[in-house]
Amino acid sequence: MDFLDNLVLPQSAHHMVLLKYLLVLTYILLIPYLSVLLGSLGLSLFFERKTDKNENYYRFAKELIDQITFNKSVSFALGVVPLISSAFCYAQLLHLTGLNVSEYILISVLFLIISLILIYTYKYTFHLKDIFTFASRKVGISDPLPVELPSYQIKTSSLHKKSGLYGLLFLIVTIYLFIASIQLAGDSSNWSVKNNLIGLIFSLKAFVYFLQFIVASFALTSALILYKYFRADSVSLDDAEYLNMIKNFSLKLGSVATIILPLLIILNVMVKPQDSFSFDVFGYALLALIVVLCIVILFYVMLKESSAKFASLLIYLFVVLFTFLIIKDQYAFDTSTKKQFAILAANYEGYQKKVKEEFGLGTEVINGADIYNGKCIACHQFDRKLVGPPYQEVLPKYEGKRDALVQFVLNPVKVNPEYPPMPNQGLKPKEAEAVVDYLISTYVK
Ligand code: HEC
Repeated sequence: MDFLDNLVLPQSAHHMVLLKYLLVLTYILLIPYLSVLLGSLGLSLFFERKTDKNENYYRFAKELIDQITFNKSVSFALGVVPLISSAFCYAQLLHLTGLNVSEYILISVLFLIISLILIYTYKYTFHLKDIFTFASRKVGISDPLPVELPSYQIKTSSLHKKSGLYGLLFLIVTIYLFIASIQLAGDSSNWSVKNNLIGLIFSLKAFVYFLQFIVASFALTSALILYKYFRADSVSLDDAEYLNMIKNFSLKLGSVATIILPLLIILNVMVKPQDSFSFDVFGYALLALIVVLCIVILFYVMLKESSAKFASLLIYLFVVLFTFLIIKDQYAFDTSTKKQFAILAANYEGYQKKVKEEFGLGTEVINGADIYNGKCIACHQFDRKLVGPPYQEVLPKYEGKRDALVQFVLNPVKVNPEYPPMPNQGLKPKEAEAVVDYLISTYVK
């Protein structure tokens, strides 16, 4: 897939910095979105399986998936678009490394699209299933229902199960591939391994980051559920039993996830390549840990009081946490790829020169008169003899022989015994031509 490389325009160092900012912004949209998608789908599938135990579980499973799939354009804007733009950022940033990072990310875009289609199928078949269940309860009561109904019902039910499960599978593959790709991008010491897909997939760094991602997903999702159902202004008239079930579950899940999270953040920093360590990386990791600690405390207090009073505050803290983690990773990427950016900056200078030449904007303008006034005038006048002969005398010899004159200026040889030899003036071919043209045109006048 060389087409991406063809799209790359060499960037100046300033543009590269802008691209990195763009990457950070992209991730601030993408990573929380993928986290919540994964968390909601995972929980929805989990609760649907336990439906026999409690009718409320079924309802919760349905609401979870409805909440995350409320709008297709949002899925596109927060998932697909940022993922594609991160592929293009990496194509620019990793230009000339021969790495396939952008291609891998584009493949993960494909997986994400498939996964989204499956997730929406899961959601719609959820609704369809309800209709069937409702209809089959009515059998015999009013008009007879179509005889195919039971078979439709079975088919829908199986499609529903499959789409949910495969949707989750594709989503996990999307996330893992994306994570593995950005880990490779940020690990310049491993670039020699190049596009070893197996090595990419079974890398410890990718695995640890993935674990962190999963745990953070569930932590964020439980905070969002608490916010959604219990924020101060959402006065709910819903039945208390249902809400209680949600509250207890989310509080427990959130607490467990946020207690594990700091360990994974530390582990994640520990397995980072040595050459990506910097003050900023540690600084932001530390800040992230402090925020996680605050979140843990909030969860603990809420769990003890069995209330969801800090739900809104939690959301703010999670936004800050994700931002810190993303900035930390971007700094690590930055430090590890310093050499690459020096290469790109040098490449850009070469590119700029080439473009200027193409458009006749040579880097410096060679001026014959300047060279004459700077060098030749010390020994030559047009009409008078100085150290060297007057041009009036010698130029007629060269009429129609511009090349020979250029040759002489570049490489003076002994000509006239009356004069000492002319020292080489050390001109470049272009400069010699320019000064010769100047002499000829002045002489003609
Ligand atoms: C240090 C003094 C000196 C400088 C500076 C100098 N020349 Fe000369 N030039 C000479 C001398 C001496 C001769 C005569 C050499 C000979 O006849 O062998 C000469 C000869 C020439 C001739 C006549 C060659 C011929 O076939 O008779 C040309 C043309 C000429 N110079 C061009 C230039 C140009 C153009 C520059 C400036 C880029 C320049 N020179 C700078 C000393 C100088």
